Amino acid sequence: MAGVSDASDPGATIQWPLAQPWPSAHPPLRLAVLASGEGSNFEALVNACHHGPLNGEVVLLVVNKEQCGARQRAERLDVPCCWIDHRAYGSREALDAALIERFQAAAVDLVVMAGWMRIVTPVLIEAYPDRLLNIHPSLLPSFRGADGVGQALAAGVRLSGCTAHLVRPEVDSGPILVQAAVPVLQTDDAASLAARIHRQEHRILPLAVALAAERLVRDKTAAAVAPSPPPARPAD
Ligand code: GAR
Repeated sequence: MAGVSDASDPGATIQWPLAQPWPSAHPPLRLAVLASGEGSNFEALVNACHHGPLNGEVVLLVVNKEQCGARQRAERLDVPCCWIDHRAYGSREALDAALIERFQAAAVDLVVMAGWMRIVTPVLIEAYPDRLLNIHPSLLPSFRGADGVGQALAAGVRLSGCTAHLVRPEVDSGPILVQAAVPVLQTDDAASLAARIHRQEHRILPLAVALAAERLVRDKTAAAVAPSPPPARPAD
């Protein structure tokens, strides 16, 4: 486990399970992002692909709020964006099935929930096994669910942060890829703490995507070299 501190934000540290900081994805990853809000994490991913160390491209943004900031960012950044009104679907599963159609049409490798304020179901999780990521504004497993920042303030913790993880059916659970810790200051309110956490989210999310991609390649390689089972003995 390695740690680096953030010179621009004293007290903030990122922890990741790597000797080399940036695994590179080959061929370049085709990413889709799901967002409901401002879309600053979406933009961080686009920037990491264009100007940073992430070998990939955000080929699709899906939003569920017609007027959200993420959609405006997509226009500015020239990323294809699709609005899906979740209210038009009779169940969470039906919404997830509609998402899968869009992702398959765009030949997406990996899907990132970056402020996607809908609970996803096994329909989506199983369509993208270990290829569906989420970013959450707390040090999981603490403060799952809505308003992770407010929960941390209410609990009076002195350290909080953010977590990028693979998605499993239980909300805000699943194998952790990267976390960053930030101090909670006496003077903090929800806005100031959220802003400090956001800055770290923008750093860890691209790294988590690279790590998830590396895991997939590693698992595929291991499966390819695994000894095949002995042939079945003919029946007597
Ligand atoms: C981020 O802080 C993210 O961690 C949070 O929504 C915010 C989206 O910001 N997600 C959750 O709370 C999910 N449980 P953004 O729209 O600026 O990327």
